[in-house]
Amino acid sequence: MDSKGPRISRRGVIVAGAALPLALSHAGRALGDSQRVESEAGPQSEPPAQTKPSAVLSITDETMAPLGVDTPVTVVNGQLPGPELRFREGERFQVLVENRLSEPTTVHWHGMIVPNYMDGVPELTQYPIGPGQSVYYEYPLLQSGTYWYHSHYGLQEQTGLSGPLIIEARNEPHSYDREAVVFLSDWLNQSPYKMIPQFRGEIPETAAAKPPTSGAYPFPGEKPFNIDVNYPGYLLNGKSEKDPWTLEARKGERIRFRLINGSTATFFRVALEGHELELIAADGQPVEPVRGQNIVIGTAERYDFLVTLKESGSFTLHAAALGSTRQAVGVVHTRDVPARASRKSPDFNGRAIGSADYASLRSPYPTTLPKGSVKTFDIELGGVMDKYLWSLNGQYYPELFSPDGKAEPLWIEYGDRVRVRMTNSTMMYHPMHLHGHFFRLLRRPGDWDDTMAPMKDTAIVGPGEKVDFEFTADNPGHWFFHCHNLYHLASGMAREFRYRA
Ligand code: C2O
Ligand code: CU
Repeated sequence: MDSKGPRISRRGVIVAGAALPLALSHAGRALGDSQRVESEAGPQSEPPAQTKPSAVLSITDETMAPLGVDTPVTVVNGQLPGPELRFREGERFQVLVENRLSEPTTVHWHGMIVPNYMDGVPELTQYPIGPGQSVYYEYPLLQSGTYWYHSHYGLQEQTGLSGPLIIEARNEPHSYDREAVVFLSDWLNQSPYKMIPQFRGEIPETAAAKPPTSGAYPFPGEKPFNIDVNYPGYLLNGKSEKDPWTLEARKGERIRFRLINGSTATFFRVALEGHELELIAADGQPVEPVRGQNIVIGTAERYDFLVTLKESGSFTLHAAALGSTRQAVGVVHTRDVPARASRKSPDFNGRAIGSADYASLRSPYPTTLPKGSVKTFDIELGGVMDKYLWSLNGQYYPELFSPDGKAEPLWIEYGDRVRVRMTNSTMMYHPMHLHGHFFRLLRRPGDWDDTMAPMKDTAIVGPGEKVDFEFTADNPGHWFFHCHNLYHLASGMAREFRYRA
């Protein structure tokens, strides 16, 4: 592979490997309190000069009402979404997670190329963090871009345990005047643990278990978009439509939006009133700029885009939830014009990009993989809708609501060129996510010679579609591969890629 290859996964591995003994010295262990972490990481440790965590995420149970209805939440530092974590490429990620809940937790750093034991998947890569315990997560940051973090324990992601994770590039190729992180989420005014029993007809249905029968936003091309949970509302940076997030900017300014779909089960179609969007990154990785009027973003994906504010005014940022009749909104305005959100349904004229058009995502550098023995996995995304069962090749991973939990690992070896061919035989869209690696997302199934295939960590597979990706097995461990719809995951729609020792 030449130096223009998929820089991230390759570099990540080398350094992660080198950093292993160091990070092992004080990471991934459950400790009684933060005091002990600091003293243990004390004078005898090698570089990092800084041994104190650069951020502490304190997780608590509270009651909050983002949609006006009191709901039990699991939040980070009392905030919804959790605080933004921001680092510069080349720094060390040093974050202490304190569990002040009455149940266990873990935090996963979505899209980060981490050593396996920093990955935050309970039972798979670490013991759950018990109530009153803390875990120190530390690893080198050799990538840049827009990422996020979320709980990987139970359904805590739905009750608020998530937030943005931004790594600023050492050599930023784009220039802009300001930056805005836009974190989208879906919100339930009831316990998420009661949803799957409703879908399975075990308990009486509430309105949130009944999808709308008309007026729902389709996937572009008027393709109907099926949903399981009909959320009473959606949030943009934690704010509902009634009290929207606003951004003040100057006329003529170029703004970089870092759009994060931090929802548990929602795809959004996003547009800024009266403005063209220029997409520059997908899942944290650069793509050749592509222009459009609106962007479709699947669960767990990220898209960065640039916008130049054309004139003075107040412009609504719409994020319509596909399959629902509802949206989240924000407002971008100039100082001379008061912020005013339009709650009208956007009509989304013009070109839809992002996940509506994977074919237009092109990596700025060749992403072809180095030679290696090719290992191919054919994976059927399957489901039994009326029983609410979601599987990969007919097997269910042990999760809260899976019927048996006997999924076999997908065995790979260091250096393998791993090809995954997914076929979706269900009526739903599945956002499939691989931990610990970027993959080359083929823009046409079977086109393994696609030199400029974009690097991503999450790939949407629509109803009846086939989607292929490949990655180099260069980061040993046990890596989760799953549907990022939290309810599909909780039903067992997951597997593990396991490196042979
Ligand atoms: Cu966002 Cu298993 O991950
Ligand atoms: Cu799914």
